[in-house]
Amino acid sequence: MLRNTPASAPDGLPFRLITLRNGAGLVVTLMDWGATLLSVRVPLSDGTVREAILGCAGPEQYPQHEAYFGASVGRYANRIADSRFELDGKEINVVPSQGVNQLHGGPEGFDKRRWTYQSQSDREVVFSLDSADGDQGFPGNLKATARYTLTDDNRITIEYRATVDAPCPVNMTNHVYFNLNGERSDVRNHKLHILADEYLPVDEGGIPRSGLKAVAGTSFDFRTAKRIADDFLSDDDQKKVQGYDHAFLLQTQGDVRREAAHLWSDDERLQMAVYTTAPALQFYSGNFLKGTPSREPGSYEAWQGLALESEFLPDSPNHPEWPQPDCVLRPGDEYISVTAYQFIPA
Ligand code: BGC
Repeated sequence: MLRNTPASAPDGLPFRLITLRNGAGLVVTLMDWGATLLSVRVPLSDGTVREAILGCAGPEQYPQHEAYFGASVGRYANRIADSRFELDGKEINVVPSQGVNQLHGGPEGFDKRRWTYQSQSDREVVFSLDSADGDQGFPGNLKATARYTLTDDNRITIEYRATVDAPCPVNMTNHVYFNLNGERSDVRNHKLHILADEYLPVDEGGIPRSGLKAVAGTSFDFRTAKRIADDFLSDDDQKKVQGYDHAFLLQTQGDVRREAAHLWSDDERLQMAVYTTAPALQFYSGNFLKGTPSREPGSYEAWQGLALESEFLPDSPNHPEWPQPDCVLRPGDEYISVTAYQFIPA
C-alpha cells in the first residue's frame, strides 16, 4: 500500500511511502524520492525490534541534508576528478558537486529525483527513472530501475539496472548507513570484516591519485574481523579524510554468492552480511555526519553510522587500467548491479 505524506517534496507533491514485510517479521519502509530506504526494522529472538539504519524523523528532512541516507545514487556514485573524463576520444565535462569534483552523480543526482513506482507487492517494489541526455553533464538518455526485494532469510536485495542510447559511465549504489545497535551510538565499536586484499588511498578531496595499495600491514586490513576503533585514525591515509572513506577491491570479484563483508553490533546480537556483484565496496565510517537530522529529536554526531557502498572504484572513468570491469555502459548492453544486505538476528 502506498501512503502519501502531508509534507511535500521539492516538486510540490507529497512523498509516497511503501512498507514491505517478509515472513520473518522484517519490516522495511521506502519512498519514491530518491528511491530511498527509510527504515529497516529487524526482530530479535527476545521479541525486541532493532532499527538497523540511520534516518530522519520525516521524509521532508531528506532533501535538506547531504548524507545521502538510504538513497539511490547515480548516474555515477562516488567521485569523478575535476568533473571530467575522456570517452571514445572525446572530452566530457560533468557538473561539479563537491569543489571541482563531481560527487554522487552531480548536484541534482538520482537521489534528488522523484522515481516512479513501476510495481509493488508485499515483498518487492520496483522504481524507475528516466535521465535525459545532458543530465548533470552525462551523455545520452538513460533509463534506470531500482528493485528492492525481501527474502525470508532476511535479505534486502537491491538490483539496479540501466540502459543508454549513447555510451556513458554508470555506477549506481544505495547509500544506506548502518548502526546495528539500534540507537544513536558510536559505530566504531562494531566489528567489521571486509574480504579485500587492496584498497584505494585518496587525497583530502577523496580523489585517488596513486592506485591500489595492499591492505597487509595497514589499518585497512579487515581480512580478519576487527573492531573499527582498533586502528582508527592510526595512519595518514585515514587522517586525510577523518577516518575510513575508501574503496576496497573485493576478493569476491563480482560473485554475489560469496560474502564480501560482515558487520556485528556491539553486543553481537545483530549481524549483517553483504553480498554484491560490484567489484568494490566503499567503506565510509560516517566522518562528516555531524549535524545530520536524526530519527529521534536532535542530530547525529560523526561516526554514528557507516556505509558499505557497492561500486566501481572511484574515478574509474579516468582509470581504464584498473583491474575491474569497464564502467562504461554502451547502447544495446544492460548495466545490472545486485547487492544484498542480510540481517542475522540472535
Ligand atoms: C563519500 C563521503 C561523503 C559521503 C556523503 C560517501 O560516499 O565517500 O566522502 O561524505 O558519501 O556524501
